[in-house]
Amino acid sequence: MLEKIKETACWIESRTDLRPSTAIILGTGLGKLAAEIEVVKAIPYKDIPNFPVSTVEGHNGRLLFGRLGGKEVLAMEGRFHYYEGYTMQQVTFPIRVMYELGIKNLFVSNASGGVNPEFEIGDLMLITDHINFMPEHPLHGPNFPTGPRFPDMHAAYDQVFLNQARTIAKEKGIRIVEGVYLGTQGPTFETPAEYKMYRIFGADAVGMSTVPEVIVAHHCGIRVFGISIITDLGVEGKIVEVSHEEVQRAANAVQPLMAELFRAMVQEL
Ligand code: HPA
Repeated sequence: MLEKIKETACWIESRTDLRPSTAIILGTGLGKLAAEIEVVKAIPYKDIPNFPVSTVEGHNGRLLFGRLGGKEVLAMEGRFHYYEGYTMQQVTFPIRVMYELGIKNLFVSNASGGVNPEFEIGDLMLITDHINFMPEHPLHGPNFPTGPRFPDMHAAYDQVFLNQARTIAKEKGIRIVEGVYLGTQGPTFETPAEYKMYRIFGADAVGMSTVPEVIVAHHCGIRVFGISIITDLGVEGKIVEVSHEEVQRAANAVQPLMAELFRAMVQEL
């Protein structure tokens, strides 16, 4: 595995002179940010040795090297989900490659169902913490030397980034909420009883991604910042039929605000 990671990182490095220290995962809802990146080099996932290939509609599957707000960035246009059939090692492979490439900061975005009754569709939720409710752990197996065998998780989401985001949102008048993201394996959306259970567990939002990548990034000492777009509500009395299209539509509507927040965050680095 380590050899494959190094092989992939070397291959990527030989294709660009850029050496960004910040990576962005453009999940559902951050696609528009890709258009704002001054792209120097775009590499389709299918061309990258050892890289999995994304299969979900709305995820393009390219690694972008470029500049955002004057800062060099590496962006993943589309991510790999456990429900697609990938192992956790595959889902988090790009994070391990990022570490080899010298990435120090990781910005992630996703779409989720809000289970906090105060949330509204279209809310941007700063992820302050997560609950790993996935069936397999991304650090299962021999420990990688990037971090300890038993990693501390008391601040997986960087406090400095969170404070910066709060300040920027206030300055720009962007409404934000905050909360705990619970990651499920998907691909089903939740039954009303499951939404209720996740709320009782302490979640504010439920989604099918992010948690494995954040765990591995944190184990690699990469600082993490995450935002979730609330695209539907798993709140008693407000539950209606959900579809992937509906999730994308709701996420698209707030993309500009999310992109603005991310850009301002990157500029401050
Ligand atoms: N549940 C799980 N994943 C999601 C949801 C949801 O309600 N909305 C967007 N992604």
